[in-house]
Amino acid sequence: MKRYFLTVVFIAAAVTAHGGLETAGGGYAPAGEAASFFSDARTQNRVDSLLALMTLDEKIGQMVLYTSHFTVTGPTLAKNVEQAIRNGTCGNIFNAHVPEYNRNLQRIAVEETRMGIPLLFGYDVVHGMETIFPINLGMSCSWDMEGIANSARVAAREAIASGVNWTFSPMVDITRDPRWGRVSEGSGEDPYLGSLIAAAMVRGYQGDDLSADSTILACVKHFAAYGAAQAGRDYHTVDISERTLREVYLPPYKAAVDAGVGTVMTSFNDIDGVPATASDFLFEQVLRREWGFNGFVVTDYTALSELIPHGVAADSLHAAELAVYAGINMDMEGDIYHKHLRTLVDHGRITHQQIDRLCGEVLKIKFGMGLFDDPFRYLDTEAHKAEFYKPANIAAARDMARKSFVLLENGKGTLPLEDGKKIALIGPFADSRRDMLGSWSGQGKADKVTSILDGFRRRFGSGNVVYAAGCPPSGDDRSGFAEAVAAAQEADVAVITVGLPGQWSGEATSLTSITIPRIQQELVRAVRETGKEVVLLIVTGRPLDLSWEAENSDAMMVVWYPGTEAGAAVADVVSGDFAPVGKLTMTFPRSLGQLPIHYDMKNTGRPYTPGQGEQHYVSRYFDTPTNRPLYPFGYGLSYTTFGYSDMEVLTPSVGMGTPVRVAATVTNTGDRPGEETVQLYVRDDVASVTRPVRMLKGFAKQMLAPGQSARVEFIIAPGDLEFYRRDMSWGNEPGGFTVWIGGDSDAELSGKFEIR
Ligand code: NOJ
Repeated sequence: MKRYFLTVVFIAAAVTAHGGLETAGGGYAPAGEAASFFSDARTQNRVDSLLALMTLDEKIGQMVLYTSHFTVTGPTLAKNVEQAIRNGTCGNIFNAHVPEYNRNLQRIAVEETRMGIPLLFGYDVVHGMETIFPINLGMSCSWDMEGIANSARVAAREAIASGVNWTFSPMVDITRDPRWGRVSEGSGEDPYLGSLIAAAMVRGYQGDDLSADSTILACVKHFAAYGAAQAGRDYHTVDISERTLREVYLPPYKAAVDAGVGTVMTSFNDIDGVPATASDFLFEQVLRREWGFNGFVVTDYTALSELIPHGVAADSLHAAELAVYAGINMDMEGDIYHKHLRTLVDHGRITHQQIDRLCGEVLKIKFGMGLFDDPFRYLDTEAHKAEFYKPANIAAARDMARKSFVLLENGKGTLPLEDGKKIALIGPFADSRRDMLGSWSGQGKADKVTSILDGFRRRFGSGNVVYAAGCPPSGDDRSGFAEAVAAAQEADVAVITVGLPGQWSGEATSLTSITIPRIQQELVRAVRETGKEVVLLIVTGRPLDLSWEAENSDAMMVVWYPGTEAGAAVADVVSGDFAPVGKLTMTFPRSLGQLPIHYDMKNTGRPYTPGQGEQHYVSRYFDTPTNRPLYPFGYGLSYTTFGYSDMEVLTPSVGMGTPVRVAATVTNTGDRPGEETVQLYVRDDVASVTRPVRMLKGFAKQMLAPGQSARVEFIIAPGDLEFYRRDMSWGNEPGGFTVWIGGDSDAELSGKFEIR
């Protein structure tokens, strides 16, 4: 084999290799350095002058956000939105996404109210507005920061063409328990990668200029630690140490703040006994005082009234009071601020100054968005014609979808499928369009989706594709099995789409089982009995226990919910037109009992060491031979193979504050070109507190021809090794570290360095 060599240096791990996102390592730091579009003196003067003219009721109106009845995600209050806007009692609307309609509401706000303050129009534009990208968990598996930022840019432009100027995204909750349905909305389990993605999405939505016609206001959510809900049950209690909160869960929100995010949404959960929506610790201390956030905070849907069942507010008056003291600027849908803020002021329980501050922060954003200069700037009723589903948007969605797929098994080289083979395309998702969109799919239209069947027919030719659904996603209807078996018999290979329907992910979809429904497994078994090679395409919004599927297939690839371009993207990868590049961002467990599971666990005092014979009194499960997950974080195959060698720590001993340099060679050892995501992991061997067994501290993408090698060098910045020490001070400690470079979090090639 011809061998040639390439040298590549990736500086400061992911920090500059991924667009100068200085926030990744520093994202852990307590000091606030938030980027800001909104803190100039001129804007503040405009806010102060406006506040001086406003009545108390008008100020309260700016702190209220009502749904328009278009799309709702919870109980709605019977109210006349138009009249509320006209009265000045509602200054912001969400779920309205028709430019003509929004234009009329904006006209009422600007022309028929005393102060003429423009409205914000919020909406859940989470992974696309009309052109739908893969679900966010899928996108994160691309490890492609520019692609992810671009998905947000496309979404922003399509949102603007729908009359929306504020998105409730990015959702950056760290997720480690696949029982939780909302893992589909986030970027997985790792704070380092999650921080980079959070910043990329904020940049994508807001750009460099929030008042530009192509950018919208972003809202990072759900603050804080919503992903740590006990047992993966939605809205459930969070009870974690402050150290875990700060080191694991907070960094992505901090990265979003540092990237200049204009708004933050509260989370539904309580944390350490305090519902987030009433937490002055979270919003006043951490967000504002420590991080320097200067945008505004909105509650999640009716989260203020939920302070009553949480048991910290006696009634809704009390709930409003708690929220004001927690620094919450805006009440989403709850009616609590609308009804009670005046009474609280009248009774002296809150002050005019508090209202001025909270209302002023909302106005500041509206000024920053340029809404006072042109309230109709986002309301061009013709814009959708040029923007929706335009070729560049479709191309971006297709590219992101194929980069999001993770090839889990391909032991016999079944994939890619050779041209000319006859394919039996089977399973309940092969001809489904709606499922391809996943949850929170904006205004994405099912009839605009390329189904997997469409994609296969186009790519392989209709005559080469025999389709049979086989069975519904769940239930007992096996009447389609015979047709599926017959299709497989007729074909050279069977490709079976199995998994969970799109609506089984997202809010309020916690599951007690993370296996593929039994009927689908039976379908796979029946098809497999034909003796044909079986490829499984896993359609899911969460990690699943795929132990059975791994044993009962020849190749297996997770395709998530891939979005509008589902079929085209799946065909690209299955055909080999595009070689898989995705790497998991959430661990896939071996069984439900392993949950929660993530790669950066602690070692414990009795670690289990595989291959060391009988070990009883060690930290493991008695009924399972291994602690290992089925597929670890960072894992994903290509159509070629990669080998790692010649690991070298170039700076084995450095003084405190000096960067560390490490390098290794990655080689394409197979016979096809492929792109590898080279990953860098570090362990702090001895510290004043226990540290994770490994932590991702950098990654770099490398395209390699067969036989080609590249020398990849990482520079670990001192900030990347900082943590909360025993006394909760933030910084480095001297001592020894282990470092690994490889293709996933099980990377074996290692070295040592010391910080003096
Ligand atoms: C509730 C969800 O938790 C949140 O993520 C979403 O933005 C709001 N509803 C508004 O739809």
